[in-house]
Parts: sequence; structure tokens; C-alpha cells
Amino acid sequence: MALSDFDLVLFGGSGDLSMRKLLPALYNRDHAKGLPETARIICVGRNAWSREEFMEAMEQNARPHIASGNPDPATWERFRGRIQYVSLDAADAATYAALKGALRDGPDDSAIVRVFYLAMPPSLFATICRNLKESGLASATSRVVLEKPLGRDLASAQQINREVGQVFSESQIFRIDHYLGKETVQNLLALRFGNVLFEPLWRREWISDVQITIAEELGVGNRLDYYDTAGALRDMLQNHLLQLLCIVAMEPPVSASPDAVRDEKLKVLRSLKRFTPFTLAQDVVRGQYRSGHVNGVAVPGYRKEPNANPDSRTETFVALKAEIDTWRWAGVPFYLRTGKRMADQLAEIVVRFKKIPASIFARPNTTFQPNSLLIRLQPEEELQLQLMAKTPGDGMRLRPVELELDFKETFKTPRMDAYERLLLDVLRGQLTLFMRSDELEAAWEWVEPILNYWEQEGDEPMPYTAGTWGPAAASALVARDGLQWREESIPE
Ligand code: BG6
Repeated sequence: MALSDFDLVLFGGSGDLSMRKLLPALYNRDHAKGLPETARIICVGRNAWSREEFMEAMEQNARPHIASGNPDPATWERFRGRIQYVSLDAADAATYAALKGALRDGPDDSAIVRVFYLAMPPSLFATICRNLKESGLASATSRVVLEKPLGRDLASAQQINREVGQVFSESQIFRIDHYLGKETVQNLLALRFGNVLFEPLWRREWISDVQITIAEELGVGNRLDYYDTAGALRDMLQNHLLQLLCIVAMEPPVSASPDAVRDEKLKVLRSLKRFTPFTLAQDVVRGQYRSGHVNGVAVPGYRKEPNANPDSRTETFVALKAEIDTWRWAGVPFYLRTGKRMADQLAEIVVRFKKIPASIFARPNTTFQPNSLLIRLQPEEELQLQLMAKTPGDGMRLRPVELELDFKETFKTPRMDAYERLLLDVLRGQLTLFMRSDELEAAWEWVEPILNYWEQEGDEPMPYTAGTWGPAAASALVARDGLQWREESIPE
């Protein structure tokens, strides 16, 4: 579907996210001839730069992330032509006149889609929205995109929802979670609801447990200031991991329309079993990396990162056991885990099925591995269905084999980065892959007791060596249920 002409305003236009992700994503679309000829990108920042100075910053900071630093010269020229730079103080309504001057037409001109992307700290969301309204820039047809972190607890998330809601209606608000823009996440919807094969088995009678892992080899990089106030639970689990859990666990929606899908995700969040003091102590593991080796390279511990607080108690790893109190899922543990400086860089969902009820095969020859479905989001996009098969030759010996689907191999078309896909959806006004206010609040409501518990208990994160799979307590968490994390169950 062709896009309507647009003015896209990037608050935080000279910041890290814009340079590394948003501008490259827009360039890619432009290269694919996917942007209207006259569409414009207005980057807003505090630096009192001229357009030329901004262009220089873009050359240095965005270009390296585009086509390995070698954008197509003609597209790059065209793309540069779309960019404007406006210097303003986001907190000061008086400075918004400069932005008004840069936008085309009145805000009610529906021929030109007007989007405000707030790649800014959440403490500024309300102020910016108010200032947009006061300056007459926000209207009933404009859209606003909110980047995470969307609050740091339930109260702050509610406040953001309330204050942004005073300016924009729910259908104008796009709360971004870039994990929902990843191809394999959408493929999970296709897998579940485009095939009959899995749905009958997708329940407590047949599934033993689900594991969702987002492991990063990277440390905190240059984001320590933000990360130290957030930690893994707020940075990754409250949003990305819970969103993945929702897609795995939701009931079939009545359609793919935004509210049909979001209603079902909300029901999952509301059905998550609440933690008790006992389960908080037992089912949640909190870790922080110490020095170690990642891919053979020595790396410092979190507390020794440049400018780090040497006593920081911020967690860089979290693992927990969640349960969903519904007829479909009662008793099926969902183990969620994420961390920085881990043994591998991967994001994956593992759905493990139950053991066969009885075996007709002689035991000494066969060790049964329960069937499992691996949905890998990164680094590769793939599906692996693990089955038991007979090894060729005499006798009857079974061993696990894999049916593999490599999405890159199967669909040779170029991939779209998650941000590119989601920006397109914003420009089209398509809300399905964005969080609704009630979803955001339900997610915070569920994780908040964990944050409170850590605060009250003065809980120290458990140390783990960089380059490993996290603290030993994370293995114990699943071992208590007689299970293992996937990588632990692979024979050496
Ligand atoms: C971001 C987190 O939302 O997701 C980062 O703030 C994290 O800390 C990143 O590194 C991971 O995203 P991806 O797409 O690289 O897996």
C-alpha cells in the first residue's frame, strides 16, 4: 500500500536511536522507493545547529549504519533532501514556533500525515505533547510515537498515559516495542493462526513448558546512565519478553485488527499469576555480570564499566518463572530470561511438548527427547521442530532429528529491520503491532511487586561471570521443575 505524503518530526533527532535506527530505517524505505516524493523528515534537537551542521552529524553518526556505510549515492542525495533540522528546547513552548515554520499546511490538512516521534526521555513526553497542543501543532489527525522506557513503574506509566491522553486519543498513540516489528514475531502469528497443525496441541495437555530467552553478548555500551536506573527487568522483561509471551500464549483473536489482537494480549497479561512473597523469593533470579570473557575477549564487570557506580545493585540479568491462570495454560511454566554479557547473542522461544505417554521401543537403544519447537528471532530467523526418527540400519534405534525452516533461505527477499516495519505502520496508521495503554499498565502491574520486593529486601543481584548463561540460580530455577534451559539439554 502506497504511503500518503507525510511530515515526520523526530524529537531526539540527533540522538543515538535516530542515528542508529530511525534514519537508517527511513533511508532503507527510501531506497526501496517506498517514500512519497515530497515526504519530509524534520529532526528536532537542542543543539543550535544549522541544517549543514546536522547533515554533518548525520554523515558521521547515521551513515555508518546504512548499507555498511555505503549508501547508494542517488538515494542518499534524495534522502538528504528530505531532511530539515529545527533547534528547539522541548520544554519551552515559546521555541515551538520554529517547528511550526518547518511543517507544511495546517494540522488539519489530512492530505499530509503528521507524525511526532518522541525518541526522548519519558519525563518529557507530557511536556512535549502539551507544548505541541499549545502551539497548535497537534490535531485530531496527527500521530505520536512513544519510545520506551514507558515509565519506570505502574504509577509513572499511568501518568504518561493520562498526560499524553489529554492531547492525543488512543488511536493516535503508537507505543513502540521494536520486538513486535521483528519478522519472526509476526511469523509466530502466521504459524499459530495460519496452520491447523499446532493449535490443537497449543495447550496444557500437550505442552510441558515454554522458555523465552533474549541473551546479549553486549554490555551496557554508552548507555550506562540510563541503564543503571533501569536494569534488565525494566529494560527488557516488562516489555519485550512479556510481549513475546503474549503472542505465544494468547487465544486466537477474532481478526487481525488492532483491538482484536490487543484484547487477547491484554487477557494474557491479566491472567498472569500474581507473585506472592514465597514465589518472589523462589521464582525470580536477579544477576549482575562480573568480569569475564565474551568471544575470547576480556571484558570488565558491570561495576567496573567506565563511569559505573562501584556499588551499583542494578541487575543486568533476570530470569523468572511465570504462570498463566487460564484453562489453556494452568500449570505450564513460562520461563523468561534475559541478560547482558551472556554466552551468546540470541533471542528465541522454545515450546517443549510432553513426553510420549508410553514407549513401544526397547529402552537401551533409545533415549527419548520430548518434541520441541524452537522459534529463533535472532541471529538467524528460523524454526526448528524436533522429532524422534529411526536411525537407518538394522534394529530399531531412535534419535532426535530436526525439521528446519530457515526464513532467509526460503524467502530470498530482502529483510526489513524492525524499526522500518514499525515506522511504516505508523505512517499507515496501523496500530496492531503497538501497545495499547491498558496493556502497558497491565504489564507494569505484574512486574511491580518484583521491583518492590528487591527494594524492600535490599536484594543484591547474584554475580555471574561475563560470557556465561547467568547465575547458577537460573539453572536451579528450571531444575526444580525437573527441566533444563535449552542450551543445557543439548548433548556436548
Ligand atoms: C532495547 C534495550 O530495547 O533492546 C537494549 O533497551 C537492548 O538494552 C535492545 O540491547 C535489544 O534489541 P535487539 O533488537 O538488538 O535484540
